[in-house]
Amino acid sequence: MNTRVEAALNDQIQKEASSSQFYLAMASWSENNGLNGTAKFMYSHSDEERFHMLKLVKFVNERGGKAIVPPVEKPPVEFNDLVNVFELLLQHEISVTESINNLVDICLQEKDYTTHNFVQWYVSEQLEEEALARMVLDKLKLIGGDKGGMYMFDRDLENATMQPAPSKDSGYNG
Ligand code: FEO
Repeated sequence: MNTRVEAALNDQIQKEASSSQFYLAMASWSENNGLNGTAKFMYSHSDEERFHMLKLVKFVNERGGKAIVPPVEKPPVEFNDLVNVFELLLQHEISVTESINNLVDICLQEKDYTTHNFVQWYVSEQLEEEALARMVLDKLKLIGGDKGGMYMFDRDLENATMQPAPSKDSGYNG
């Protein structure tokens, strides 16, 4: 596989792994602060990011490259409040989108149309994730300091997910 594309894919593997850790830290903080719906949402989001990472690992290996499993970075332990959590999540997703766009760019420069096609799944995924994070932040800003509103928000978030659970035909069979 093209070495520049391989390096960019390995860089993306690292980013997805660090996203998974970051959202796991948010899940744990939420659980410790009585926000069980938010915790459930974040645990599931953390799993999704791990799935994004695994999908890349398998793709790199199947195409004759070498996937590099990255070291885990320590995410924050404390967050100020829920607005802070979702602002950080949105900022993080924006940086992941930039990284995916960069990957698309490298695929085109190197004329690797197979990887370009594979990466399109991530392009759509980023669109959805950013939109959801913005919608959640808008809701939180509307609620402000209202405790009843916050209770309902947390309960509603329990039933929201970023996307359906990964299936066999989604490219990851683990
Ligand atoms: Fe896999 Fe949320 O980026």
